[in-house]
Amino acid sequence: MTTVNQTEQWNVLSKLAQSIQGQHMRDWFNADPQRAAKYTTSACGITLDYSKNLINPDILQGLLNLAHRQQVPQKRDAMFAGEIINHTEQRAVLHTALRNFSGEPVMVDGVDVMPDVLATQDKIKDFVQQIHSGQHKGYTGKAIKHIVSIGIGGSFLGPKIMSEALKPYWKDGISVHYVANVDACHIQDVLAKLDHTDTLFVMSSKSFTTQETLQNTLTAKQWFLDQGGSQNDIAKHFVAVSSNVKAAVEFGMDENNIFPMWDWVGGRYSLWSAIGLPIALTVGYEHYRALLEGAFAMDTHFKTAPATENLPMLLGLLGVWYTNFHGAQSHVLLPYYHYLRGFPAYVQQLDMESNGKGVANQADDIDYATGPVIWGSEGTNGQHSFHQLIHQGKVLIPADFMLPLNVPQQNDIHHAMLASNCFGQTQALMQGKTYQECYADLASADLDESARKGLAKHKTMPGNKPSNTLLFEQLDPHTLGALVAMYEHKVFVQGAIWGVNSFDQWGVELGKVLGNQVLDKLVNTDATLEFDASTNQLIEKFRQANR
Ligand code: F6P
Repeated sequence: MTTVNQTEQWNVLSKLAQSIQGQHMRDWFNADPQRAAKYTTSACGITLDYSKNLINPDILQGLLNLAHRQQVPQKRDAMFAGEIINHTEQRAVLHTALRNFSGEPVMVDGVDVMPDVLATQDKIKDFVQQIHSGQHKGYTGKAIKHIVSIGIGGSFLGPKIMSEALKPYWKDGISVHYVANVDACHIQDVLAKLDHTDTLFVMSSKSFTTQETLQNTLTAKQWFLDQGGSQNDIAKHFVAVSSNVKAAVEFGMDENNIFPMWDWVGGRYSLWSAIGLPIALTVGYEHYRALLEGAFAMDTHFKTAPATENLPMLLGLLGVWYTNFHGAQSHVLLPYYHYLRGFPAYVQQLDMESNGKGVANQADDIDYATGPVIWGSEGTNGQHSFHQLIHQGKVLIPADFMLPLNVPQQNDIHHAMLASNCFGQTQALMQGKTYQECYADLASADLDESARKGLAKHKTMPGNKPSNTLLFEQLDPHTLGALVAMYEHKVFVQGAIWGVNSFDQWGVELGKVLGNQVLDKLVNTDATLEFDASTNQLIEKFRQANR
């Protein structure tokens, strides 16, 4: 089997990367006044300006040829059609069915999944309305005021970060708290603020086997009982979301309180399923539905827009360009919007758990990078810490800047400052500042010639650093849904080009198994230790500290 880096299209791109060595984006902008317009496209409330990238028409065409060679459109269609593309787990990949408002069926193994999807959406809608109207009461007759969402990974990041992003849409009178870490500090801090009589726990675990979530739920249950609730009252205060209904019932969940999901929804793609229940509880069902509709709009765009206007396709191609032809090992996300501050962490799981693979689909070993480290945080904060490395460090770090053009109740000088910083950063990264300019700036400085030259060198900004700028009319639920789906499909495009299965995550399993073996030795303090010398020593130290 030919791996992607053995193809003619890959060779062409390698040569194109060499051909632009020594060229500077600054000169490209000077030479072509249309460059910004040529490399800007919009869809679903999102405008992407990708003109500040190390690309020219030949490179873009070369990347499109690579996508064509790797059958990205065919693979995309197979995903939407419910084919078993997650072949290592023998599963379809159908998070898109959860936001399918086309009225068309979606078939898995000859069965239309849409009736179950719609029935679950109705169940979410009813439940949310019951909570918000006060119809669903706690066991003492009080309306529910606090929601505690317990889950980890995709069963945590999606609900938490999207709820955070939608702060201007929060319902009055309801507060939502998230618990993920098995570190007891987390759940204790949350429970300490709560009254058990007006609190509802939503336990979210697709597999219903995740250690952290099971333990945190047991702790929450015990707290509820210790505070005065009884076993009979639990059904009013605990609900679960899972594809493993049997395990949820065995755990003690009331069957009526279980919101189902399905094995064809990957954990990191699950916020569109009932895993999104805490979002609906935070912002109300209508806004939650708008989030799904935004994702559906992006699905339609991804399926139908020409490649040169296709946001996920373009972002995916640019990612491959930097990862494989410029040696970029990381990619930074910089939302210039406080409420979107968690978004880098969301995309981090989405991208790194999907494409962090070392074997291609036909079980071929691969010797090319499949995905960068995704990181980042809200602007402008990063400008005063890590941007230094992006501007002058010797590693290439492509960046996605994000900015809503309108923000609720805040169209004032703060927003203008935020925007100016965002645009100023992309400008500085692209154009840089030459040695000559820096030297000239120091003309009146009290420095001898050698110090002046030296300082000018330190101040020189190389520029030519790539970035995308993503603008949103406003970050409403619809646009947020489109944004998340855009990154999902970007990850898909990259996985399809690299020829990996973006929908399994075998790499997380060994750590779980070993962690459980170690736990056994930490709990059974007399058990003989038969691990490697380092692990044995660490366990001994823990045992001594906890005697
Ligand atoms: O361990 C990785 C993982 O399986 C993620 O893929 C998933 O999002 C997370 O754990 C939580 O899994 P679950 O929803 O089954 O508890």
